[in-house]
Amino acid sequence: MKLTIIGASGHGRVVADIAVLCGYEEVEFLDDDPSINNCGRWPVVGASSLAQSVENDLFIAIGNAKIRKKMMEGSSDKKFPALIHPKAVVSPEAAVGSGTVVMAGAVVNPGARVGKGCIINTCASVDHDCMIEDFVHVSVGAHIAGAVRIGERTWIGAGATVSNSIAISQDCVIGAGAVVINDIEIKGVYIGMPARIMDKSKISWGGGGLLRPYNV
Ligand SMILES: CC(C)(COP(=O)(O)OP(=O)(O)OC[C@H]1O[C@@H](n2cnc3c(N)ncnc32)[C@H](O)[C@@H]1OP(=O)(O)O)[C@@H](O)C(=O)NCCC(=O)NCCS
Repeated sequence: MKLTIIGASGHGRVVADIAVLCGYEEVEFLDDDPSINNCGRWPVVGASSLAQSVENDLFIAIGNAKIRKKMMEGSSDKKFPALIHPKAVVSPEAAVGSGTVVMAGAVVNPGARVGKGCIINTCASVDHDCMIEDFVHVSVGAHIAGAVRIGERTWIGAGATVSNSIAISQDCVIGAGAVVINDIEIKGVYIGMPARIMDKSKISWGGGGLLRPYNV
C-alpha cells in the first residue's frame, strides 16, 4: 500500500513516518518546488498538479490551512486516510476525520470530534466533548480543555492552553504559549496570558487573511 503526500517539508517527513507505522509500505511526495528531489528517505516525484492522476491514497502535509482545504477539496474523489500514531491515545468514543494526522503522544478524549484535514501535533491534547472543526491545527504541546469548540482553519500555537467550554472563531491564530480564558468571536491573532488580540500593526506578515502562508 502506497501513500502520496503533498508537501515535502519537515511536517511531511513526520507524516510519512506515521503513515509507515499505520501500515503504508511505501511513500512518495509531490511538491511544487522543483529543486526538492526527496523528503527524508522518500522521493519527490513531481508537482502537486499530479495529485489528480495518482491512484494511491493521498495526504496533504501543508501547514497553511487554506491551502490544505483547497487541495483536499480539489481532490474530493481521492481517499484521504486519518493517520493516528500508534503512541497517540484516541478514545473509542472520539471521532477523527479523514486527512487528519494525530501525532505521537497526543491525546483525544471521549466525546471529542476532530474534523477533516486537521493536525493534532506531537503531545497536544484535546479533552472530552471538544468540537475541533475542519483544517484546525493544534500545535505541539498545546492543550484544549473539555467542551471547547474551535472554528475552521484556526491555528492554536505551540504550548497554548484553551480553558474549558470556550468557543474560538474560525480563522484565528492563537500565539505560542497563550492562555485563552474567554470566548473569541472576532477573527484575529491572540497572544499572552490571558490571551488578548494582537494589534494588527504588530503582525509581521500584515495579517492579510490572518493565516500566515507558512509551512511547518
Ligand atoms: C503570534 C505569532 C503568530 C505572531 O507572529 P509575528 O507577527 O511574526 O510576530 P513577531 O515575532 O513579529 O512579534 C511581534 C510582537 O508580538 C510579540 N509576540 C509574538 N508572539 C508572541 C507570543 N506567542 N506571545 C507573546 N508575545 C508574542 C513579540 O514579542 C513582538 O512584540 P514587540 O512588538 O513588543 O517586540 C507568532 O509569534 C506565534 O506565536 N506563532 C506560533 C508558532 C507556533 O506555535 N508554531 C508551532 C508549529 S507546530
